[in-house]
Amino acid sequence: MAKIKTIGVLTSGGDAPGMNAALRAVTRSAIYHGFNVKGIYRGYRGLVENEIVTFEAKDVSGIIHRGGTILRTARCKEFMTEEGRQTAYKNMRKNGIDALVVIGGDGTLTGARQFASEFDIPIVGIPGTIDNDLYGTDHTIGYDTALNTIMWCVDRIRDTANSHERLFFIEVMGRNAGFLALNGAIAGGAEAAIIPEISIEVDQLAQLIEHGFRTTKKSSIVLVAESPITGGAMGLAERVRKEYPQYDVRVTILGHLQRGGSPTARDRILASRMGAAAIDALVEGQRNVMIGDDDEQMVYVPFSKAIKNEKAIDRQLLAMLSHLAI
Ligand code: F6P
Repeated sequence: MAKIKTIGVLTSGGDAPGMNAALRAVTRSAIYHGFNVKGIYRGYRGLVENEIVTFEAKDVSGIIHRGGTILRTARCKEFMTEEGRQTAYKNMRKNGIDALVVIGGDGTLTGARQFASEFDIPIVGIPGTIDNDLYGTDHTIGYDTALNTIMWCVDRIRDTANSHERLFFIEVMGRNAGFLALNGAIAGGAEAAIIPEISIEVDQLAQLIEHGFRTTKKSSIVLVAESPITGGAMGLAERVRKEYPQYDVRVTILGHLQRGGSPTARDRILASRMGAAAIDALVEGQRNVMIGDDDEQMVYVPFSKAIKNEKAIDRQLLAMLSHLAI
């Protein structure tokens, strides 16, 4: 394998709080180890369109606390074509880039895996997504911040829900995974979480809510993961309204506000550790692996494992949530 001199770094897919902290760590750790660093704008699009700049240590100053990504991000259709990837490779060579660090979610790693199978490029992935849906890592960068944002929102909605004695359905992101909904519900003291991994009938849900209203509660909050499987908060609310008109139902969709904001300490530390570990991986000759957090240890997870396997949700947590909601 040719010696690596210059490492390119990009952020791709949905932005996540902590991506900037990861960019800082990748850049500074690479420079510390004697590499040059190139920042690639707008994810894979920057590779295809040759939007590439030299990054020095000072270019990542004052960003550890900032949400979003200073490199911007995109979901690039051209990179999904063979032609697009060829152009990307040419631009990589033109800029003297010998290896890549890509920060993003499932789509980002899928793109990296495809690229690495066609061209001889060492690539290391860093899991950056609020969804926490990548196999091989306990946490993804941005998940903790999004979870805290959800908790903050649930706390506020609880005030108005109590005052009006209402039933609220709060929809949270997560693509096809229920980590944000389930743990957001636990942290916010919600009555239930509706997640795509585990089906629940409207009747069961109503029973749970009714029980709560009859005994200790003046309101109910149900977190719903966005997904065609759950039907989303709107869909679920409609069904409950129809069958149980006695409830005063309201819906709040948290949407993209879950993706913004200053990263929590936990996300900043995770991003810093993963960024440094990505450079360690390249120094050790690793390629086509994602950095994972396995019980607080940084590990290397082959792309194929991280993408193909489904990360399991802890079903006992859902049971616990309902026990605590009595
Ligand atoms: O993957 C992160 C995520 O925020 C998902 O939770 C959500 O489904 C999706 O991105 C939204 O994407 P966009 O910003 O393109 O609407």
